[in-house]
Amino acid sequence: MTSSKLTNYVLSRTLALLVLCWSVGANAAGDPEAGKLQAMVCAGCHGVDGATPVLPEYPNLAGQNEKYLYNQLAMFQSGTRDVPLMTAQLIGKSEQDLEDLAAFYASLPSKGGEATGTDEDLRRAQQIYKGGIIEKKVAACAACHGPGGVGNAQAGFPRINGQSVGYTIEQLTKYREGHRKSDEAFGGMMRGVAHGLTDGEIAILADYVRGLRP
Ligand code: HEC
Ligand code: HEC
Repeated sequence: MTSSKLTNYVLSRTLALLVLCWSVGANAAGDPEAGKLQAMVCAGCHGVDGATPVLPEYPNLAGQNEKYLYNQLAMFQSGTRDVPLMTAQLIGKSEQDLEDLAAFYASLPSKGGEATGTDEDLRRAQQIYKGGIIEKKVAACAACHGPGGVGNAQAGFPRINGQSVGYTIEQLTKYREGHRKSDEAFGGMMRGVAHGLTDGEIAILADYVRGLRP
């Protein structure tokens, strides 16, 4: 074997192993009780019930699906989702710790929210949510996040209903500007969706999805 062939071989084996670790890690079940013990410090920002954040723009975590939560925690830890504030919370935590934390927050009951927009804004947001914006190649949100905004637990697509409006606005803006790259494993699908959205469309969507009910 030449050295370049060998390098290719080693690379392909490493990639196969990485893919295997990713899927095993994302599927293994965490222990919510063990997660609860670690979550005391998290409650300082996300609230004891996981849905009463200290600042309105911090995210609700309660009832989010376990696979999504685990993937985000792993990506905060590795820096793929680049938020130093959250990375600092996860220093020294093992993969099992992250799985336990994900299982704990997934086990908490989700809290709904209310939309506050005008009828006209809610109508426009609903059109985008259900039908996308064809001329701007914005895909319908409902296709992946579900008609009631609960996401898809098996696929690891996040729940987006009942979420803080400020948080949703910030995330859609970060995807649009290419600052949030945690959708890499999904081929950059959220950056693709958010690319065509204006600030105004993001604002009415964030309000509308908060009020969605399953
Ligand atoms: C000092 C405040 C603070 C603490 C403490 C904290 N978080 Fe966070 N967390 C945040 C903020 C702010 C964000 C939003 C980051 C962003 O802008 O993307 C966040 C985001 C998250 C997300 C992503 C939510 C989503 O919908 O994608 C998860 C999961 C999370 N935190 C879990 C935890 C866990 C578990 C702990 C405890 C080990 C914790 N956090 C401690 C402030 C905090
Ligand atoms: C093709 C599937 C797909 C479509 C269509 C889609 N999303 Fe997403 N969305 C995802 C996936 C997958 C993620 C998680 C990606 C990641 O890990 O960063 C996500 C993440 C999000 C998040 C971040 C959630 C959080 O807790 O941080 C928001 C908000 C969101 N989507 C809103 C929308 C809106 C609004 C639309 C319609 C304009 C939409 N999505 C269309 C698949 C989709």
